[in-house]
Amino acid sequence: MDKLLIQGGTPLSGEVAISGAKNAALPILCACLLTGEPLQLKNVPHLNDISTMLRLIGQMGVEVTMDGNDGLILDSHGLNNPLAPYDMVKTMRASILVLGPLLARCGEARVSLPGGCAIGARPVDQHIRGLQAMGAEIHVEQGYVHATARRLKGARIVTDMVTVTGTENLMMAAVLADGETIIENAAREPEVVDLANCLIAMGARISGAGSECISIHGVERLHGATHSIMPDRIETGTYLCAAAVSAGSVRLTHTSAAYLDAVLAKLREAGCAVSAEHDVISLKAPQRLKAVSVRTEPYPAFPTDMQAQFMAINCVAEGSALIRETIFENRFMHAVELIRLGADIRIDANAALVTGVPRLDGATVMATDLRASASLVIAGLVAQGETLIERIYHLDRGYERIEEKLSKLGAIVRRVR
Ligand code: UD1
Repeated sequence: MDKLLIQGGTPLSGEVAISGAKNAALPILCACLLTGEPLQLKNVPHLNDISTMLRLIGQMGVEVTMDGNDGLILDSHGLNNPLAPYDMVKTMRASILVLGPLLARCGEARVSLPGGCAIGARPVDQHIRGLQAMGAEIHVEQGYVHATARRLKGARIVTDMVTVTGTENLMMAAVLADGETIIENAAREPEVVDLANCLIAMGARISGAGSECISIHGVERLHGATHSIMPDRIETGTYLCAAAVSAGSVRLTHTSAAYLDAVLAKLREAGCAVSAEHDVISLKAPQRLKAVSVRTEPYPAFPTDMQAQFMAINCVAEGSALIRETIFENRFMHAVELIRLGADIRIDANAALVTGVPRLDGATVMATDLRASASLVIAGLVAQGETLIERIYHLDRGYERIEEKLSKLGAIVRRVR
């Protein structure tokens, strides 16, 4: 298994390009299941989660053609197997995103239940309830969600909590339903809007994406389209944190500050000078950051996917910060690894009190999930000596060519096979 070896202590500087957003690309790949005409995508990131999703839809009968460096053409006219087997779903929870589109296009879907994952139980009851409200017959048997519907019917759906993939699944199901569907308490994440924009380009009638009430008028059929995936706001935020913690100065291109208000505000509060112009964000960090407290909430508030990275930067900041995680029940697993590097972190349920220490010391640490891994990279960049991060397959799920991009910014980092 690959490991990442980081020699800490070099301030990051220079320019790096941000990739397309994983969490927008995954549902948009599933959107191809809704039409028999080709869907052409651009700015698709090279990530293991994307390869997994392509394998999943490939075995359903979707033809995948590479189109230049970061483009894909997906053709699902031969879709013949509306099944998502356990072997594939267990490695990536986002596989549940095939459920809505398969049901809408084929009238049937068998999708393995994703089960628990490291950061919490993460049930899919809201996905199922929403589809049932639209008239689907759903049985859970032998670990599989088996859904059937002649044609889904528009419905008013109020989800119990804000769910990102839940909103996306229901939106994709509703685009081919008979009549109007209203999703209340919808997720407002920019990735939901990117998916809606792609579906609209395919002929869907959707309004309100980006607000908490989305209205979808079902149409008879969708057609092919071309869509470019939005930039990855979490990759952007991660590189900004890496620069911030190392007293660096970086320019990130091919990104957008529009989706990062809460994160940029916290970096400024920590003492960084941040500016944004067109598709570029620049950050210049002070010699030592000030500790900043964060509380994770659905968009547009501070994202849970940036919580671990902010815990890492607080480890060496001046003062103490309180990190509150309100989305997932078990998302502090990086804390014990950061403590192994010398961090002062006290955890009480869903709150962590981080008191900055003057220095961290390199050690061998283990990545436990995607964003936890990112926090260990950030800590490794500022720790004295060498940090060896094990199990970096988590990083490869969500960060494109991370060692190459960090090296371009001057970090001393290499992959150990
Ligand atoms: C998505 C993101 C993930 C991010 C998360 C929260 C993708 C592929 N992944 O995950 O990176 O961390 O949003 O911003 O976009 N819940 C239920 N029942 C459901 C659905 C959700 O109880 O049917 C709960 C979850 O357990 C969690 C909360 O709702 O506590 C939010 O989860 P959700 O927004 O659904 O996360 P994902 O869409 O899985």
